[in-house]
Amino acid sequence: MEQPEIRMGDKLHEGKAKVLFATDDPGLLIQYFKDDATAFNGKKKGTIEDKGVCNNSISSNIFRMLEGRGVKTHFVRRLSEREMVVTKVEIILVEVVIRNIVAGSLAKRMGAPTGQKLSEPIIELYYKDDDLGDPMINRCHVRAFSLANDAEMDHIEKEALRINELLVEFFSDIGLTLVDYKLEFGRGPEGILLADEISPDGCRLWDTNSGEILDKDRFRQDLGNLTGTYQEVSRRVSSTVKQT
Ligand code: TMP
Ligand code: ASP
Repeated sequence: MEQPEIRMGDKLHEGKAKVLFATDDPGLLIQYFKDDATAFNGKKKGTIEDKGVCNNSISSNIFRMLEGRGVKTHFVRRLSEREMVVTKVEIILVEVVIRNIVAGSLAKRMGAPTGQKLSEPIIELYYKDDDLGDPMINRCHVRAFSLANDAEMDHIEKEALRINELLVEFFSDIGLTLVDYKLEFGRGPEGILLADEISPDGCRLWDTNSGEILDKDRFRQDLGNLTGTYQEVSRRVSSTVKQT
C-alpha cells in the first residue's frame, strides 16, 4: 500500500540511544535509532556500529508482531534504515521491568544464582529519571507522586504480562531465551500505548542452545562481537516475520 509522505521537523528530544523528531503531522513523530551505547546509567559510553539499523529493524518487527496480536503500540511504520514513524505519546515516567529468569540486579538483590528460572514472571517498577539513576519504586510511589493513576497502572501491569507471554514465545521460536527486559508506556490519543523500543539494548537474550549472551550485556561486560550480536538477533527476528 502506498504510504503518505511524511516530513521531518525539529528535533524534540535526544536520548542515549534514540532521537525524536517532530513531523508535519502533529500526531506523529519520527524515532531515529543511533549507534551510541551507554550502560551503568550513562557512566560507560561507546558506539556499536550498525546497532541503530539493527534495533530499528528488531523493534519494528516486534511491534508489528505485537500489534497483530492485539497489543496497542506507538509503532506506525518503519520509515528508513534508522527511522520509524510513531504515534506521539506522553511517556509515563515508570519503567516496567519484567523478569523470567534471575540475572543482573535481581541476582544481586536477592543473592540468587544467575540463570535460575522464576516460578512466575516478576514485574518491577523504576522511576524514569537518569539524574537519579532510575531508582526502583512501587505502586505507592507511583500514586503518591502522581506518575500514573491506578487504572493506568492496572492496565500497564496486565498488558506487560500479556506482552511477556507473546515475547517469550516469539523469541523461543528463534532460539532465544528472554531473560528480562524493560518496557515503557505512553499516553496516546486513544489510551495507553507500548512505546520506546524492544531490542537487545533493553532485553537480556540468551541463545537457548549455547547460553551465549546476545544482548547489551556484551557491551556492559566487554565481551566483544557487539555488531555481530545485534546483527544476529536482527537476522533471527526478521526470519520469522513479514518485512516492510
Ligand atoms: P537490571 O538487571 O540491570 O535491573 O536490568 C533488567 C533489565 O532491564 C535488563 O534486560 C536491562 C533492562 N534495563 C534497561 O533497559 N534500562 C535500564 O536503565 C535498566 C536499569 C535496565
Ligand atoms: N540504559 C542504562 C544506561 O544507559 C542502563 C543500562 O542499560 O545498563 O546507562
